[in-house]
Amino acid sequence: MSPLQLISIFLLLPPLILSAALHAKHGCLDQCGDMVIPYPFGVGTNCSLNPYFEINCDSSTHPPKAYLSINNIKKEVIEFNQTYIRIKSPFMLSACYDQSTGKQHSMTMNLSGTPYMLSDGNVLTAFGCDDMVLQSNGSSTVGGCSAFCAEKSDAGFGDCHYNGCCYQDLFTGTTFLEAELIDVSGKSLREKLFPCSYAFIQEAKWNETIYSYPLYYLNNSTALVNDDWASATRPPVVRLDWLVGAENCSRSKNSNTYACIHEKSVCVDYRETYLGVKGYTCSCVQGYEGNPYLQGGCQS
Ligand SMILES: *[C@@H]1O[C@H](CO)[C@@H](O)[C@H](O)[C@H]1NC(C)=O
Ligand SMILES: *[C@@H]1O[C@H](CO)[C@@H](O)[C@H](O)[C@H]1NC(C)=O
Ligand SMILES: *[C@@H]1O[C@H](CO)[C@@H](O)[C@H](O)[C@H]1NC(C)=O
Ligand SMILES: *[C@@H]1O[C@H](CO)[C@@H](O)[C@H](O)[C@H]1NC(C)=O
Ligand SMILES: *[C@@H]1O[C@H](CO)[C@@H](O)[C@H](O)[C@H]1NC(C)=O
Ligand SMILES: *[C@@H]1O[C@H](CO)[C@@H](O)[C@H](O)[C@H]1NC(C)=O
Ligand SMILES: *[C@@H]1O[C@H](CO)[C@@H](O)[C@H](O)[C@H]1NC(C)=O
Ligand SMILES: *[C@@H]1O[C@H](CO)[C@@H](O)[C@H](O)[C@H]1NC(C)=O
Repeated sequence: MSPLQLISIFLLLPPLILSAALHAKHGCLDQCGDMVIPYPFGVGTNCSLNPYFEINCDSSTHPPKAYLSINNIKKEVIEFNQTYIRIKSPFMLSACYDQSTGKQHSMTMNLSGTPYMLSDGNVLTAFGCDDMVLQSNGSSTVGGCSAFCAEKSDAGFGDCHYNGCCYQDLFTGTTFLEAELIDVSGKSLREKLFPCSYAFIQEAKWNETIYSYPLYYLNNSTALVNDDWASATRPPVVRLDWLVGAENCSRSKNSNTYACIHEKSVCVDYRETYLGVKGYTCSCVQGYEGNPYLQGGCQS
């Protein structure tokens, strides 16, 4: 190879590198399996904006799976977006009345102090026959619904419009809730019904087909676990909005933690919510695309 050829290779390299999309911090993995992990998220220590965005990539499974690392939600992330993430069944409770010790009858979702909150359109769902789920904000009951079954039929299906299921809308921006399952019929009547019931938070897509599940999921505490939702129309997924700062854009712009560092990035205030949540995300200016949180991340 002549020196001239070498030089021309070096001249060609920088544009080639620049044209590749920039997703991760320098020196960090930008993918977990086939899934791109966009900064402020990052795989491993020091690769994310802060520990809340740290991803644990478990490559013992095929394909590898991405998990959030924070204590409250060490659950699998199945989608990353500029404004939200989608997580597989993180907030879930089950109760089986045939077991004397019983399972957990209540659960708490506490995302206070994290950059995450429920997105628009999540619901609190209960599966069961003659069961009620109550939603509390920590001090008062603020919602709930009751699920009834027409009759016991092991071969039948429950669905969220007619039989064995109910749901309660949740406010956008919710960071804290408690849920409790209550047996409406009373234990004495349990024998003729299914012993188990479940409650969980779930994203709802209103124009999708009715959510349904086989009633034998209510048969015993292992039926649903062993099947891992395979016989339901879809497993529960929770959609969480994320923010890079807990103040609005005008408050954050002069702070030394301001995250929209690229010159072609703009700050976007979190949308108005009933709960008055404040915060922001970043976006590339019009005509540019890419990652507004990284130097050189927005490209035309
Ligand atoms: C992460 O960054 C801190 C501070 O810069 C440093 O002390 C630490 O060694 C880093 N950890 C790793 C795993 O690189
Ligand atoms: C995020 O979701 C929005 C709205 O659904 C979509 O327009 C956008 O392309 C998504 N971004 C990524 C990176 O998937
Ligand atoms: C929720 O979590 C935050 C931060 O960890 C904590 O300060 C708060 O006490 C928790 N709230 C409740 C009601 O447990
Ligand atoms: C819970 O809801 C009640 C009734 O809406 C309200 O008065 C109370 O302040 C709320 N508590 C918390 C901790 O949000
Ligand atoms: C439900 O449980 C009962 C008792 O354990 C069992 O006999 C029955 O076969 C189960 N039903 C289904 C559909 O698995
Ligand atoms: C549901 O709505 C989304 C976006 O609003 C659309 O892309 C999708 O095709 C719709 N699905 C059905 C089954 O109508
Ligand atoms: C639990 O339910 C599953 C599915 O309905 C069934 O195959 C299994 O035999 C049940 N186990 C017990 C201990 O009843
Ligand atoms: C930003 O928040 C501050 C206080 O938190 C408030 O005074 C100001 O009006 C807000 N600005 C906008 C544009 O919403």
